[in-house]
Amino acid sequence: MPSLSNPESRALPVHVGIIMDGNGRWAEKRRLIRSQGHLEGLKAAKRIVKAASDAGIRFLTLYVFSTENWKRTAEETGFIMGLVKQYLRGELDFYRENRIRIRHAGDLRGLPNDIAAELAAACEETAPFPGMQVVLALNYGGRDEIVRAVKKLVAENGETPITEQNIRSFLDNPDIPDPDLVIRSAGEYRTSNFLLWEGAYSEYYVSDVLWPDWTKEEFDRALAAYRGRCRKFGGAA
Ligand code: IPE
Ligand code: IPE
Ligand code: MG
Repeated sequence: MPSLSNPESRALPVHVGIIMDGNGRWAEKRRLIRSQGHLEGLKAAKRIVKAASDAGIRFLTLYVFSTENWKRTAEETGFIMGLVKQYLRGELDFYRENRIRIRHAGDLRGLPNDIAAELAAACEETAPFPGMQVVLALNYGGRDEIVRAVKKLVAENGETPITEQNIRSFLDNPDIPDPDLVIRSAGEYRTSNFLLWEGAYSEYYVSDVLWPDWTKEEFDRALAAYRGRCRKFGGAA
């Protein structure tokens, strides 16, 4: 077991979250339709899942589709949902070979039935796998997650005290540690409703590189930047 006094072993984030942004701009720059950007974004997601697994990351949360992304045209949301289905089917062998577990964050009930069923099946089949865990944040909103958690807490037992610990226990994946590092591509400095509760003390890394252009090298740069951070969690250094 690595020593905790070894800064290298201490500095590798256990949980990394990624706001995969910039697919549309990638396509627009090339005078392509937005769907083309989402297609390339899917390829980038495959590269980065592999890079994270190779790097020894234990949990990787990918922001795939937010509760607000339904504001887009039916054509675009339909295309993204189709890609999700393609990803879940096409990548299952990779997940099996690498013993990677797929999980979900977000509201399953707001998803088209076929996508929800596909996702549930992938989560179930990979549940015993001991490798990295990939959380697909799909129809996910940080505020929505907190509201759903509080509703469940109240419905469970009207007398359960409202504490941070109790709210946390009703979040989508309460056993997963808070993200150490949240990466955002495409140069926007905002959370866009990603992991609001869990990201309270996450280190943020913003890169100008549009998501479809992300490579292992870019991901490694984010990990290196994280290594240089001094985390204080409100305490004195
Ligand atoms: C991220 O890329 C993908 C989703 C939000 C589903 P965008 O589609 O937001 O790309 P930009 O921000 O328009 O460039
Ligand atoms: C955040 O990106 C959501 C995902 C990456 C899935 P958006 O493109 O939706 O965020 P805004 O609208 O620029 O804040
Ligand atoms: Mg965007």
